[in-house]
Amino acid sequence: MNDNDDFSSIVKARSRHDHGLRGDYSSMRADYTVEQRYERYSDAHQDVWRRLVARQNALLPGRACDSFIEAVRRLDFAAAIPRFDTVNASLQAATRWQLVPVPGLLPDDVFFAHLAARRFPVTVWIREPEEFDYIAEPDLFHDFFGHVPMLFDPVIADYLQAYGQGGLKAASLGGLKYLARLYWYTIEFGLIAENGALRAYGAGILSSPAEIRHAIESPDPHRLGFDLVRVMQTRYLIDDFQHTYFVIDSFDQLFRETAPDFSLLYRALARLPELDPDDVEAGEAEVGADGLSDRTPAG
Ligand SMILES: [Fe+2]
Repeated sequence: MNDNDDFSSIVKARSRHDHGLRGDYSSMRADYTVEQRYERYSDAHQDVWRRLVARQNALLPGRACDSFIEAVRRLDFAAAIPRFDTVNASLQAATRWQLVPVPGLLPDDVFFAHLAARRFPVTVWIREPEEFDYIAEPDLFHDFFGHVPMLFDPVIADYLQAYGQGGLKAASLGGLKYLARLYWYTIEFGLIAENGALRAYGAGILSSPAEIRHAIESPDPHRLGFDLVRVMQTRYLIDDFQHTYFVIDSFDQLFRETAPDFSLLYRALARLPELDPDDVEAGEAEVGADGLSDRTPAG
């Protein structure tokens, strides 16, 4: 499946009825939270965690943004699967966010409600050793390693809360697919121009050993300057590396440009064409390795 427009509704339906989604949804609370049950992690799980963190940490210098690297250093979670309670103490102090353990993927409305209340859902299960290199659904490693460090950045922290608040309104405005694209191209696969270079801040990039190289170094993908309408017009790939990334100048830019109410925007978008991940329109400039747009028309 190349197009993810229906992903949220599929996840929603599957989560509601527990059809085929990985994770134990049998003993969750009404808000889909569970206990972390730390004793359930086996030695093999702890080993998988340590090896995943070590592999990814080695790839961060020169590829991850400063905020991410700084938080990873501060969190110091390389030795064992983190206990959410312990992390919550420092996260609360830093940006007033909390991690909440969940069985896996959540319905949109539940996910948005957590974000709006500054609670970040983190999947409790971790991949098995034989799944070391690839996993279809986000596990604890993706959710924690990819997302939690950025929650320590005050601007991203506020952006995510605003995103959740926007999400709660989006369904009635026909905006869910546009909002899903915004999340995808920022929180999951966002790039930032930082100190004259391209860096990753998206969790899908930062938690993947192959995509972090692809996103930063490969000549193949398009890298376009962030433009809210352009992002919301653009479909995305869930089963391949991204073919297009959007580059922000700063987290402040992201927060500022996504602050206006989206109701009118959704209506305007309904009249605009959808774009494929490979499409680059005439006059759009690619962002170079130095984080600056070159003026060569993209082909
Ligand atoms: Fe994610």
